[in-house]
Amino acid sequence: MSDAFTREPSWAPRLFPPAARAPRAVQTARMLLDPQGYARSLRRRFGPVFSLRTFPYRGALVCAADATANRAVLTDHKRFTGGDAAGLLAPAVGAGSLICTPPPLHLDHRKLLLPPLHGSRITCWTQRVRELVHAELPDLLSGDSVPVRPWAQRLTLDVILRVVFGLTDPSRTATFRQALNAFVGMGNLAVLFLPKPLRHDLGPLSPGGRFQRLRAAVRELTREEIAARRAAPGHAHRDDVLSMLLDARGEHGARLDDAQLLDELTGLVMAGYETTATTIAWTLHLLAHHPAARDALVSDLDAGSDRLLKATVKESGRLRPAVYNAMRTAAHDTELGGHPVPQHAFVAALFPLTHLDPELWPQPDAFRPERHLDTDPVPYSLTPFGGGVRRCIGVSLAQLEIETVLREILAAAVPEPAGPLEPARLVSVTLVPSRGGRVRLRRRRLSPQARL
Ligand code: HEM
Repeated sequence: MSDAFTREPSWAPRLFPPAARAPRAVQTARMLLDPQGYARSLRRRFGPVFSLRTFPYRGALVCAADATANRAVLTDHKRFTGGDAAGLLAPAVGAGSLICTPPPLHLDHRKLLLPPLHGSRITCWTQRVRELVHAELPDLLSGDSVPVRPWAQRLTLDVILRVVFGLTDPSRTATFRQALNAFVGMGNLAVLFLPKPLRHDLGPLSPGGRFQRLRAAVRELTREEIAARRAAPGHAHRDDVLSMLLDARGEHGARLDDAQLLDELTGLVMAGYETTATTIAWTLHLLAHHPAARDALVSDLDAGSDRLLKATVKESGRLRPAVYNAMRTAAHDTELGGHPVPQHAFVAALFPLTHLDPELWPQPDAFRPERHLDTDPVPYSLTPFGGGVRRCIGVSLAQLEIETVLREILAAAVPEPAGPLEPARLVSVTLVPSRGGRVRLRRRRLSPQARL
């Protein structure tokens, strides 16, 4: 594993934006327990650019918390470069994945991955998502309190395995699902954020040992898919990402080798399913707790419009962005918001803070989808998918999945609260509802077929 995050950097004595004096362990615990509340208190105290001292970062993590700073971090690639800063996730997503690739190679990789994930290639998945929702809907409609996130994870994992590998065999999908759930679940990825000595493989029962074992299982399955597809004739006519990448050529005419393919595909799967499932869970949970917004959305959908649906997904992504932040590294000594930022410092655009800035969003804590109707947000005030040349490459697929799932569920049932509004917790870089986004779904009298 890279030790870039724990190595004492040469710039340690240099100046950073202001930070709280609390010990590193206290700041880390407060971020994990109340990521939005704690970061907002620092923003109120220090302004839109401040530093956090949290594990596993030595020195400080420079944080951007308004639209101006957000824009600079996301788009000023000469000063703030991507790739290296995501190295913390490399053991999980693959060091050679797009997420972890720095420039100039990054653009080359992106060009290879864009065609299979392009909007027009993606619409063909709508029907599959609908079928999956209908197959899985009975689990949600029991009338009991259900956590939506694990339910949605099953669905989005199935979709991403189809899109990335073209998997259709149910038993193979189940094997993948089991391996990925074991790898991503039970706090396994928290290992990445432990101090370095604790990340090592210290035996099968140690967190590091468990992490390595589960990781190897996922990578082995991926390797098998690559080998099977290389051996199979006719992959040129398939539309999954793996088949398209087998024949794709980079800028210099070279094909991707198996090691590159392995990292690229793992990165897509890892980036693509939890984020989407979390957004679905937050949206249904928020709708359950805001009956006026929910009823307006249901009426609008019944009338055949998707204006409020799109606005609702935007509002959910504003209030509870599934990804907490995007990371960059300072390419040289520079400044942000008038504060010094030393070369090599890690810089994070903290989306929840910009999304809750009262100067950009009146009544920022209120869930009001209609605020997105007929208005464009201030540039870089709403960036749940990041921005600049590293903006999420899966945005079309994610939006298609989220909108289709919501449309199908709301045709069949109405979400109601199943307890208090859940606070957000930080799991790796994902902002998740603390109890899985519980709702109770009340069946509607109108069947989905009747509305078609
Ligand atoms: C609601 C669902 C999703 C959310 C909220 C989300 C959010 C994000 C964010 C914030 C970034 C970082 C952007 C930046 O650094 O500026 C990102 C990058 C990325 N996402 Fe997503 N994502 C979602 C779904 C997906 C899906 C479905 C896929 C795969 C098909 C995917 C693949 C990626 C990849 C490969 C990157 C790295 C892009 C690069 O570095 O060039 N994401 N995503």
